[in-house]
Amino acid sequence: MRKTIYLDNGATTMLDPKVVEAMRPCFTEQYGNASSTHEYGRDAKDLLERSRGTIAKTINASPDEILFTSGGTESNNLAIKGVAYANQKKGKHLITTKVEHKCVMESCRWLESQGFKVTYLDVDSEGFVSPEALERAITKETVLFSVIHGNNEIGTIQDLAALGMVCKKHNVLFHTDACQSYTKTALDVKKQHLDLVTLNAHKLHGPKGVGALYVRRGVAISPWQHGGGHEKGNRGGTENIPGIVGFAVAAKLAMDEKHRKQMTKLRDKLIDNVLKIPGVTLNGPRGERRLCNNANFSFAGVEGEAIGGLLDAKGVCSSTGSACSAHSLEPSYVLLAIGLTHEQANGSLRLTLSRFTTEEEIDSTVKVLPEIVEKLRRISPFGKLIDKVLSKV
Ligand SMILES: Cc1ncc(COP(=O)(O)O)c(C=O)c1O
Repeated sequence: MRKTIYLDNGATTMLDPKVVEAMRPCFTEQYGNASSTHEYGRDAKDLLERSRGTIAKTINASPDEILFTSGGTESNNLAIKGVAYANQKKGKHLITTKVEHKCVMESCRWLESQGFKVTYLDVDSEGFVSPEALERAITKETVLFSVIHGNNEIGTIQDLAALGMVCKKHNVLFHTDACQSYTKTALDVKKQHLDLVTLNAHKLHGPKGVGALYVRRGVAISPWQHGGGHEKGNRGGTENIPGIVGFAVAAKLAMDEKHRKQMTKLRDKLIDNVLKIPGVTLNGPRGERRLCNNANFSFAGVEGEAIGGLLDAKGVCSSTGSACSAHSLEPSYVLLAIGLTHEQANGSLRLTLSRFTTEEEIDSTVKVLPEIVEKLRRISPFGKLIDKVLSKV
């Protein structure tokens, strides 16, 4: 068993051993194609439909409103491009925000290159979108508003019900990317007035390469993957039965309220202790409006990448808010959108928990982190200056 402390569950998670067990027969005995009419095919179809029912129940939807896909990226592409093309006669305007996942941003940018108009809403200093700003941005041409439910970097949970009310009032379709929030906070398509919801499995101890799109009955989308009429013609391709079975089992296990409580307790312990380090600020909100497994900090005078590297050397996996490439150090657009400077954004570190994270792991992390930050501040000229200033505060 590896001893490494894994605090990068926002990127992906370990498969729950129970999920592995549930998937195993799909590789060896129940390996049929759900489109085949013989016994093997019927078995596969049965697994497919039962899994569809399980996923639907977790978000208060009907099974026929769930489409299986290859994951969050595909679901977001299908929701945004699919709605845009199917509703062109009504208008060619979409609204999203400045804090979306890359796959939403890139889908919107691509639509712009095809003649659609997209408005990117600002957020406040904690990452929230205001329903008033949404209402102001809606025009007669607007067909869709897409917003991330739980932010993948800073953990902000949007008030879907309030945003959904605005969409409903103006007859605009409402989509949310719930990859990070699914099973970690309430998601109810009826109470939150949702028309489309993106889900995936690998953030909740399910397998990679599988996800779903909820499409409310009556909402028109244009398919992007053409094939043999799978998923009611909305998404061609033989269904990934092992993945779908694993997804449904993982979702059911993750819905247990006790997991949320445990992660919230450890998240707050982590936040409280890291904030004791001088010159550290929390990015995103505190409390119930933050994902129960997310913590994101900015460390004055040090690069998040450098902290992450030294944490890795000490056996702790983390991630940064900045995308580092060989030629440039691009600060995270999400952190810039909440008003951070380039230095603050580059000094950020994300630590994300799972239900398998233990209190001992949090204790070990908060023990090594101050030493790492101090060491880095000692060797960086800017860090030295920050240290001097902080020691006088
Ligand atoms: C908020 C969000 N949306 C979409 C995705 C993409 O999902 P997938 O990796 O299943 O394509 C991710 C995962 O990185 C995510 O965090």
